[in-house]
Amino acid sequence: AATAKYTFTVGSMQINQLCSSTSIIAVNGQLPGPSIEVNEGDDVVVKVVNNSPYNITIHWHGVLQLMTPWADGPSMVTQCPIQPSSSYTYRFSVPGQEGTLWWHAHSSFLRATVYGAFIIRPRRGNAYPFPAPDKEVPIVLGEWWNRNVVDVESDAILAGQLPTQSDAFTVNGKTGLLYQCANETFTAVVEPNTRVLLRVINAGLNSHLFFKVAGHNFTVVAVDAGYTANLNTDTLVLAPGQTVDALVTTNAAPGSYYMAVLAHDTMSPLTFAASDTTTATAIFQYNGTSTNPPAMPTMPSSSDAGTANAFYFGLRGLGTPAVPSPVDVSMTIELGLGQLPCDPSQTRCNGTAAAAAMNGVSFRLPSPETSLLGAHVDGVTGVFTADFPDGPPPSGTAMSVGTKLKKLSYNSVVEIVLQNPAAVPTENHPIHLHGFNFFVLAQGMGSFTPGSVAYNLVDPVARNTIAVPGGGWAVIRFVANNPGMWFFHCHLDPHVPMGLGMVFQVESGTTPGSTLPTPPGDWVGVCDAQHYAAA
Ligand code: C2O
Repeated sequence: AATAKYTFTVGSMQINQLCSSTSIIAVNGQLPGPSIEVNEGDDVVVKVVNNSPYNITIHWHGVLQLMTPWADGPSMVTQCPIQPSSSYTYRFSVPGQEGTLWWHAHSSFLRATVYGAFIIRPRRGNAYPFPAPDKEVPIVLGEWWNRNVVDVESDAILAGQLPTQSDAFTVNGKTGLLYQCANETFTAVVEPNTRVLLRVINAGLNSHLFFKVAGHNFTVVAVDAGYTANLNTDTLVLAPGQTVDALVTTNAAPGSYYMAVLAHDTMSPLTFAASDTTTATAIFQYNGTSTNPPAMPTMPSSSDAGTANAFYFGLRGLGTPAVPSPVDVSMTIELGLGQLPCDPSQTRCNGTAAAAAMNGVSFRLPSPETSLLGAHVDGVTGVFTADFPDGPPPSGTAMSVGTKLKKLSYNSVVEIVLQNPAAVPTENHPIHLHGFNFFVLAQGMGSFTPGSVAYNLVDPVARNTIAVPGGGWAVIRFVANNPGMWFFHCHLDPHVPMGLGMVFQVESGTTPGSTLPTPPGDWVGVCDAQHYAAA
């Protein structure tokens, strides 16, 4: 295996967007940031130099980080943040994963502009399990705020409110022609009668997205860096955090076609949402031709849950995976939105603050002295409690705040029923697990009743992020074969400070290769400023 080395310099850059020049935080002066491109099994070394005024960390979303939990990235879960004028080098490898993932800041709202693609091609000498594409195009879908995103988040937290709607959607950092003043559009130039692999990523903070290319259909071949059985569709559906690899055959009349992105509004009641209904666009252009204006696809209605469920429920894994069994740990996790009394630090909060919880526990990161992994590795006590409940509290119980973890012994088989209640307000929560992929054994609408549905143990899709529909449920299963501290949280970014998360503490095993090695010397798990290396 080769070693891929990168330097990511995080700093301010000036960008023209929606009629004005704005300063944003970005990596290497690019939006999206640089793509990481490796082959399966490679070692990856990324030195992150923080020249921004903010604390920051980078998370490699979907990379399993087997035996390298200190390289995972969520601030105060697996490391102390990288302070301004400091650096940290992430070292990990990518065995057993192929397809598209991505990376993003995992500290405050900075992932709005600090993100990029993470592409894992087959091991050198190996082929794709589908006809080789003639061209590959990363399509990173994002959300744009005109205001400083750190201010957007801190204002919302101080006021106990949800942050406001983003100002635009973007394709590879560009809003497209349908926004006022949008003078920049991403264009993919393709040759006729070829196969193009689109590597589509939803890097948005807040919005589920529909994606279409006018005049063309997709064959989905992978999601979340795991191959799928071919799924033919004209619409891709991506919750925040999810990725889809889709083949497009360029057999339409030569010309140019819009690639179009529309928010899928999953809120109930819908009045709550006031969603951005502008369509972000990019252009899919046959080389040497043009059509003005390009052909526009017919988009689903923004509240079309049927199209979303048909896509999600239709995905199957490729081949027959070994679904782990029997189940050792069985949990139900109920996702809840609600209100909590304002915290004294929420100086602009009026009585109650918007809050969210899993099983009634509104998750709080530990105080800024010790990360959870720092506490785990160094045996620091008093940082968390290991009493996360295995099921929802009796109905009517108010939520409470806590830093509660669920302890798992090495190699235990864990099954979780994720239940999104029908009681309003509700919305589709994309729940993301760090450190593991999970099999999706069943999903549906209404309340899950044990024994009422057959699980797919034959060809379930494996994912790292699952969209749990409002008033619906999903059953997932994974093996706790990766010691460390692993965040499990909603990938709608505003829901993280509201508390929609928890952490799995996976213990080391006793057999050779099952215990955590010594952390690297530059890792800071207990936040003592003297340990920060100069950039
Ligand atoms: Cu992509 Cu914890 O996040």
